[in-house]
Amino acid sequence: MSLAGRELILGVTGSIAAYKAVYLLRELTRLGAAVTVCLTEHARAFVGPLTFRTLSGRPVLTDLFDPQSPDAVEHVALAERAHAVVVAPATANLLAKAAHGIADDFLTTLLLAARGPVVIAPAMDGGMWEHPAVRANVATLRARGVTVLEPDAGALASGLSGRGRFPEVDAVIEALERALVPARDLAGDRVLVTAGPTREPIDPVRYISNRSSGKMGYGLAAAALRRGAEVTLISGPTALTPPPGAVFVPVQTAEEMREAVLQHLPPATIVIKAAAVADYRAKQAAASKIKGKRDLTLELTPNPDILAEVAARRTGAFIVGFAAETHDVAAHARAKLEGKGIDLLVANDVSQRGIGFDAEDNEVLLLDRWGGTRALPRMPKTEVADAILSHIVALRAGAPAKKTHA
Ligand SMILES: Cc1cc2nc3c(=O)[nH]c(=O)nc-3n(C[C@H](O)[C@H](O)[C@H](O)COP(=O)(O)O)c2cc1C
Repeated sequence: MSLAGRELILGVTGSIAAYKAVYLLRELTRLGAAVTVCLTEHARAFVGPLTFRTLSGRPVLTDLFDPQSPDAVEHVALAERAHAVVVAPATANLLAKAAHGIADDFLTTLLLAARGPVVIAPAMDGGMWEHPAVRANVATLRARGVTVLEPDAGALASGLSGRGRFPEVDAVIEALERALVPARDLAGDRVLVTAGPTREPIDPVRYISNRSSGKMGYGLAAAALRRGAEVTLISGPTALTPPPGAVFVPVQTAEEMREAVLQHLPPATIVIKAAAVADYRAKQAAASKIKGKRDLTLELTPNPDILAEVAARRTGAFIVGFAAETHDVAAHARAKLEGKGIDLLVANDVSQRGIGFDAEDNEVLLLDRWGGTRALPRMPKTEVADAILSHIVALRAGAPAKKTHA
């Protein structure tokens, strides 16, 4: 998605990283975007408006009550005109105000009036970023559909090191481009998503399962709905609420998941198997609770390979599988992609902390059957979901997969 001709608002707040907004502005204008800069009062203490005014070629906004302004409700007009708002860098203070709908200056008022996507690139000390109040505000904003980027890890202005650095300008631009994806590029598609773990009973109270939270699959279902698809979400037990608008099919075991998938397969144009189906189940689940403290030998039998079965049916749907690997990710993933005969494989390294199973973030490798490989940088699962869907759309349109590195 090109930024050329896009009308953007760049909000800058009182962070030591405010000077980096200058580089971001230069890049946005180089890409052809028309940018109006809005500085908070505290941002002005770090970088003066003259720099932004010169580089954007437009007056800089700070004062909501500016008597010189030609339009007293300019914040509303501007917010409605803008294709997107990007706040970079965003302070902990801005995250708190945006999460709670506080509108006590130009930027925060404008954020409430904005109708297009909002992308926020936070920068702060690592301890601030980890503070429960900040975590809660970030979660609130993300749940509302705002893209909040993960700050980078490394040396911080405080002299400490940790996660809190302003993300790379390229990462902010990529997030902005993704947020501006035409909202309905999956209109007419029927997307079948599987999510979560399965539970394989040992007896009526115990089961074999795994650490899958379902966040990736639910994120994909929500993103596909936003982009206009009809979505069926077949899910093992999770703590998540299915996205409104999806046909929701709850299942427990791999066998139940297989049945549900095969039943809903025929009309699907895209099948995304994000569920972590248990590889094995008890050969014979006990009919009543197993009693006593004694050694117990459990005989396991493999569960059906639903992904391979779906691929073998050749319904014409675009088929996406997931692979959780702990080493040699690319090689194992390529072998799995070819072995199963699917179109795209999303591989993640579950040995890394903070990504993959039961985490907010993911960092994945996309391998397609035409030989393309794309590494996505670490980002929240909601954004990984959109990036995967954009990749599917591009592959279906015949665009050669971009070869990039994390
Ligand atoms: C030198 C200095 C650097 C600061 N850097 C940051 C920062 O990187 N991130 C942050 O959240 N707050 C930072 N602050 C604190 C904010 O400036 C302060 O919370 C302010 O109220 C933010 O106002 P604003 O969000 O309206 O711009 C810094 C303050 C000072 C004095």
